[in-house]
Amino acid sequence: MEKNEKAGYDRRGFLKGSTAFAGVAAAGTLLPGGLALAQSGKVKVGLMLPSTGTFAGLGAAITNGFKLAIDEHGGKLGGREIEYFVVDDESNPAKAPENANKLVQRDKVDIVIGTVHSGVVMGMAKVLKESGTLWINPNGGAGAMTGALCAPNFFRSSFSNWQTTHALGRVLKSKGHKNAVFITWKYAAGQEMMQGFKEGFENEGGKLTKELYVPFPQVEFQALLTEIASIKPDAVVAFFAGGGAAKFLKDYQAAGLKGKIPLYGAGFLTDGVLDAVGDAAEGVETTLHYADGLDTKKDNAFRLAYAKAYKLQPDVYAVQGYDAGQLFAAGMKAVKGDIGNRSGMIKAMESARIDSPRGQWTLSKAHNPVQDMYLRKVVGKENKVQGVAWKGLADPARGCKA
Ligand code: PHB
Repeated sequence: MEKNEKAGYDRRGFLKGSTAFAGVAAAGTLLPGGLALAQSGKVKVGLMLPSTGTFAGLGAAITNGFKLAIDEHGGKLGGREIEYFVVDDESNPAKAPENANKLVQRDKVDIVIGTVHSGVVMGMAKVLKESGTLWINPNGGAGAMTGALCAPNFFRSSFSNWQTTHALGRVLKSKGHKNAVFITWKYAAGQEMMQGFKEGFENEGGKLTKELYVPFPQVEFQALLTEIASIKPDAVVAFFAGGGAAKFLKDYQAAGLKGKIPLYGAGFLTDGVLDAVGDAAEGVETTLHYADGLDTKKDNAFRLAYAKAYKLQPDVYAVQGYDAGQLFAAGMKAVKGDIGNRSGMIKAMESARIDSPRGQWTLSKAHNPVQDMYLRKVVGKENKVQGVAWKGLADPARGCKA
């Protein structure tokens, strides 16, 4: 039997069938009418994340972080247990609408948590705008989700692509770099991070002299590294992530560029990959909304709990998953488990102040985190914090009418 048939409620918690009614009665629900129905039973959480492909590790860290936050609430939110429905989106934009519909139409989840890849985010946005299903995005930075496509039910616990590289302009300027080359995958995330950097660097009087792209998820960098060697820019800025980032860092070193042309990046370049790259990343400086060595009470507690639960050190993806859980918990607490109280959920979530391992953050009008961007430097196996590159950076939310 499909899980959605068992539950007997639609997304807003309305009763659908007589077998479902028997289940509620047997459970001994005492409150009358819709309130009882809306607040009883498990809350259905759809996890749409990659568990295969170059971003598989990112999906795993997000899942771990999310479940840790829920476990810290005793596995229940607003008094209700959580039931998970999982879809591997393969970081494949072409399958995104179909995969989102598995959760929305087939499983009838109350909320969707996902995903990593910006192209898949765009496919999800179409489905979730139409269905109105609550959505927390724990990574994918596609600007449109909290820009032109922004919607009351769309929330992000992560970043916009623009945010992750914008502060790098200041950083490069402070190092005396006057020109730079940007290298990335040719898809929304890479292009938007390039744009965020370009604006930030040009505001400081710098010049982006060349944009270099490889198709996603290819990792054949040799020809472009040869081109960089011949251009000889003051600096190289890169966005790759997961397996692709590890390969790029190793290839940059093998091409003899490490130590010759300084390498910078969106922090994803060096997050979650340091165990895999030997000393290829040593000294690379990046900007991101998380770093190692923050040494705050919240971060220390989180890192300890994560290491205990999973025998792993957390990274930025784990933090974003954890904060998605915290944001969801804030909503569920306010509505006392009645997730069908949509306006109550939205109001509580949009006004939440999240006590995150990254530092406290709130949401912009478009529901994107307003957060500090750290400057980090790879030292051994850590993305060691160097300072705050931009305090309280907000995405411009271009095109959002919210
Ligand atoms: C994205 O596609 O938006 C994306 C993917 C991986 C990252 C960051 C952004 O590490």
